[in-house]
Parts: sequence; C-alpha cells; structure tokens
Amino acid sequence: MAYKIAIIVGSLREASLNRRVARSICALRGDNLDCSMVEIGDLPLYNQDYDALPSQPEAYVRFRDQVRAADGILFVSPEYNRGVPGVLKNAIDVGSRPYGQSVWDRKPAAIVTASPGSIGGFGSNHQIRQACVFLNMPVMQQPEAYLGHVTDDSFDESGCLKDGPLKDLVTKLAFAFHDWVEMILRLRRMLAEDAAHAELAKESEHA
Ligand SMILES: Cc1cc2nc3c(=O)[nH]c(=O)nc-3n(C[C@H](O)[C@H](O)[C@H](O)COP(=O)(O)O)c2cc1C
Repeated sequence: MAYKIAIIVGSLREASLNRRVARSICALRGDNLDCSMVEIGDLPLYNQDYDALPSQPEAYVRFRDQVRAADGILFVSPEYNRGVPGVLKNAIDVGSRPYGQSVWDRKPAAIVTASPGSIGGFGSNHQIRQACVFLNMPVMQQPEAYLGHVTDDSFDESGCLKDGPLKDLVTKLAFAFHDWVEMILRLRRMLAEDAAHAELAKESEHA
C-alpha cells in the first residue's frame, strides 16, 4: 500500500543538497511512498497572537492542511550552526499550534540530515528528533541518516543520488520508513477494531 508522505525540507536554497536528497527518496520509493514536498518558505514567523485570531494566515492554513492529510512525515534538513535551521523550526512551531490542535500529533516520522561536512548534520537531526518526541510523533529509530560529505558531485544529471553508499543508506531508510508507517497505522487500526469489538460484546452482555 502506498502511504502519503509529506516531505519537509529545511533549506530554501534553490540548489539545496537536502532537497535533492529528498527528491531521490521520492524517486526510490514511488510505488510504496506517495511523496509530496510541503513548502515552508512562505510561512510568516510564528507569533502566538495569531492563535487567537478568527482567521489564520493563508500560508498557515495551507501548511497545516497538507501536514494533516499525510500518513507520515519525512524531515530532510541541513544543519545550521550545529542546530535546526530557523525556517524548519518555524514550520514545526506553526504546525504545533493553536494549543491542542497540533497537526503533528501521532504522525509517524523519519529524519534525514545531509551536509558537505563530516558529521552529517547530527546536531540538527537530534534537535528535530527532540521536537518530534515532544509533539507525540513516533520517530523511526533505525537506520539513522546523518549523510556526511554530500556535495554536488553526489548527484547525477537528473538530480538524484548516484549509486554508492549514500544511495544505499537512503534506500534502506525509505524501505524501513514504509514499514514503520505501515506498522503504526495497522496497529492503531487493530487496536481500534479490538476496542469496538469489546464495546459490542459489553453491549450484548447487557442486552
Ligand atoms: C548559516 C549556516 C550555518 C551552517 N552551519 C553548519 C553546521 O553547523 N554544520 C554543517 O555540517 N554545515 C553547516 N553549514 C553548511 C551547510 O551544511 C551547507 O551550506 C549545506 O549545503 C546546506 O544545505 P542545503 O544544500 O540543503 O541548503 C552551514 C551553512 C549555513 C548557511
């Protein structure tokens, strides 16, 4: 079954390495992951005063609707100064509010960070993970994806990762993420069915 995956890229740069990694993942798992990129560059900086307004900024509504409609979320991001880029943190905050209406709640997630540096965005990866844990998103543990030494040369003319260890890791992650989303959604369905059956059994006992 193809799951709807919202991909959120933490770079606005035209030639972003991370955006190209994200595209490669879409190309790899086209049959099982129905991926779409959710844009975050037009989101006004989050201000809690917005929460009380009768109508929300248009970009907030569009962004929240797109995230809400997804079965799973894949974050693909660079690291800025050993942390999560501000533009991505802003998007995470926008999705988390108004209080009690977070669109992230219970969405299975995976995190990929890519950098020309050798640490592969480890700091950013774990800051995103920390926010996901707080936001009640089951985050896939393995494989971890800190993609280091990523450069323009890592991609072919079509903009996808060339054959090699980076592509191998990302392929493994894409397969694992499909299974992760499937496991969580199936288990929830089964638990809901069990609860419904138990409820029916209780009712017929009292009838
Ligand atoms: C403001 C800024 C801070 C950065 N800090 C880091 C860093 O902490 N760690 C790192 O590996 N690379 C860092 N870089 C380099 C980025 O990894 C590199 O620019 C990368 O190409 C950005 O990702 P993108 O190609 O998807 O836009 C930084 C770049 C910028 C512009």
